[in-house]
Amino acid sequence: MSDTAPIEYPTWLTSGDFTEVEEPFRLFDAWFAEAKRSEPRDPNAMSLATIDADGLPNLRTVLLKGVDEHGFSFYTNTESQKGRELGTAPRAALLFYWKSLNRQVRIRGAVERVTPAEADAYFATRPKQAQIGAWASQQSRPLESRLAFEKAIALYGAKYVIGSVPRPPHWSGYRVLPISMEFWHDRPYRLHDRIEFKRAELGAAWAKTRMYP
Ligand SMILES: Cc1cc2nc3c(=O)[nH]c(=O)nc-3n(C[C@H](O)[C@H](O)[C@H](O)COP(=O)(O)O)c2cc1C
Repeated sequence: MSDTAPIEYPTWLTSGDFTEVEEPFRLFDAWFAEAKRSEPRDPNAMSLATIDADGLPNLRTVLLKGVDEHGFSFYTNTESQKGRELGTAPRAALLFYWKSLNRQVRIRGAVERVTPAEADAYFATRPKQAQIGAWASQQSRPLESRLAFEKAIALYGAKYVIGSVPRPPHWSGYRVLPISMEFWHDRPYRLHDRIEFKRAELGAAWAKTRMYP
């Protein structure tokens, strides 16, 4: 389906009550499809919260690069601050806020690394400049000057001028495996709809609860 094709909404969505849905990934897919049409840019941008070794929360934006019945994946430098934090505390929260729809999705769960084959496959789809950048950037480490970065880019650009660029060993993906997914939709006078799906563990049945906004 092209991005401009009319959306065929499921009846539980058009009936005005998304809260009827019993399966959170299905609801996420429907909202994400709408966000792709209505957001001016990066509908896949999400806040990623982790915790550092002292228990202090940390937060930054990353791009969602895959979602399936297992979870939500993104790619990064595994030696970055987030990579180090996920190494010691493999748990995270994700947050989508789609301003054009005035909807929020909140996700929490354990984090696993994607397989090397998945990371290779996604890395291969990136533009060559971005692949070179993944080699040149020591993400989250001090950089003495922009020139030093440009030198590193030129160096790796020359190294991989011919042929394909291999995936750096320090670059891969993570998947957040949700045990909680909350959907919030704006309603007039701040009487918003808010539905939380929770499960005790991965693979267990979801329990749905409507919450006060
Ligand atoms: C819209 C947007 C998308 C981003 N996407 C990613 C991403 O997919 N992966 C990534 O490593 N950093 C991404 N970044 C940069 C991160 O927010 C962050 O600055 C960087 O990953 C370093 O974070 P850390 O020091 O906590 O590891 C993005 C930033 C913005 C504003």
